[in-house]
Amino acid sequence: MSTDITRRALLQGVGASLALAACHDEGDVDPIPVDAGPPGPPTFVHGVASGDPTSAAVIVWTRVTPTGTAPVTLTVVCELARDEGFADIVQRATFVTSAQRDWTVKLDLTGLTPATAYHYRFVCEGVTSPAGRTRTTAEGRVDRVRFAVVTCSNYAAGYFHAYREIAARDDLDAVLHLGDYIYEYPDGYYGNTRRYEPPHEIVSLRDYRTRYAQARRDEDLQAVHARHPFIPVWDDHEFANNAWRDGADEHMAAWEGPWPTRRRAASQAYMEWMPLREQSDGRIYRALRFGDLVHLCMLDTRVWGRDVQPPDRMAAADMRRQILGAAQEQWLFQEITSSRARWKVLGQQVLLGQFGAFNYLDVWDGYPAARARLFNVIRSMGVANVVVLTGDIHSSFAMDLSPDPTNPMVYNPATGDGSLAVEFVTPAVSSPPLPFIQQAMPEVVRRAMPHLKYRDVWRNGYLVLDVDDARAAATWMFVGNVTDRADRTHDTGPTWLTRDRENHLREG
Ligand SMILES: [Fe+2]
Repeated sequence: MSTDITRRALLQGVGASLALAACHDEGDVDPIPVDAGPPGPPTFVHGVASGDPTSAAVIVWTRVTPTGTAPVTLTVVCELARDEGFADIVQRATFVTSAQRDWTVKLDLTGLTPATAYHYRFVCEGVTSPAGRTRTTAEGRVDRVRFAVVTCSNYAAGYFHAYREIAARDDLDAVLHLGDYIYEYPDGYYGNTRRYEPPHEIVSLRDYRTRYAQARRDEDLQAVHARHPFIPVWDDHEFANNAWRDGADEHMAAWEGPWPTRRRAASQAYMEWMPLREQSDGRIYRALRFGDLVHLCMLDTRVWGRDVQPPDRMAAADMRRQILGAAQEQWLFQEITSSRARWKVLGQQVLLGQFGAFNYLDVWDGYPAARARLFNVIRSMGVANVVVLTGDIHSSFAMDLSPDPTNPMVYNPATGDGSLAVEFVTPAVSSPPLPFIQQAMPEVVRRAMPHLKYRDVWRNGYLVLDVDDARAAATWMFVGNVTDRADRTHDTGPTWLTRDRENHLREG
């Protein structure tokens, strides 16, 4: 998501540090990690995490920090137990890590029991990590599923109050992170509450790793990972601002090097540090099932198959333009048309509904033919109960999804007739609001976007999606001032929902 700052002007000030950043590695391996401490036993300072739960498996993660002169490898044992005290350990699994993968540990534990809470921890050379909790999904009949949905956790912009609040909840099946888990920016560019590590724009593999490591030392982020399994996808800032398949708005090849090198580095660090299940071709789009209730499709609208952002709406109208890419698009259509789950939930990055009040084309508005193909499949195949979850835009929105929301022959904003699905947009964890959205005149927005039923363009927080047989309901949860570490205020915002087979919004 663009900030309204003149990027190129600022870059002149940070060019020197960027040049240094670009040359200090090319995917090489540090024999001693940058954060290695004095000689002693290894430590676990980045917490633990779990993710991508199925009814029989879950990913568990940690990182071990070697001290002194690092060995070539370290052997880490994961203990999985049914109880908090680890008296009833049901599985032990071993992982050998090294500098090649930044000393991260990631295991896909299998053979687990459905709908079961587990406790996990790691042991390395006699040192035990903090413990985490996770949960497998249920099979068959499921009455209720509840997700927290988050996006845009910019470390420099503020504290992670939203993560703190989610970590305190006991009622969630998983946390969906829709991307911008880290930001690539240099210090002072987008937020001044905390300093980044490293202070320059991140470009190299070492840079990306260092930025993830910094985030994972945040106690609120550690707490939420330890408490709930995550189901993450990346957006642009895990790479560079307004990324697409073959580049990014703010990738400057002249001094930041070739895009494929940077994309590979960013993607490698993400896979090392995030608790998602990896696929052999590096794609992140995937489906997860919550019994017969929710079929969750996590998408990559960002770098897998996306064509470049168009300069204007004329260029955007090209029928061949892709946001998912042909393979992912076919996969998605197959998933939603063949699913027998009551709700088809799409976790994705950029705004899908028409953003007519704004000339902003880094969203599905820049790829109208791709959006029309999706709407066409939903309508022609009679796919009911599609719920789209969106991040990226630092705002809270609820939208009806219609192919032509300003045409009264196609969509009736008073009744919701003509809506094919609904979209819920989650606010940023800590990134600031976007000025161009705040400044829009309410009357202009109302006329250009009659399908926009709810908006808040000021507050940080998260969203809870609560699903049962009768409805899928989104409740916005807001936090206080993210630049104040001590601010613990939080409040419950409105609820918007869609009832079974209605495919349009109602206020809850
Ligand atoms: Fe963002």
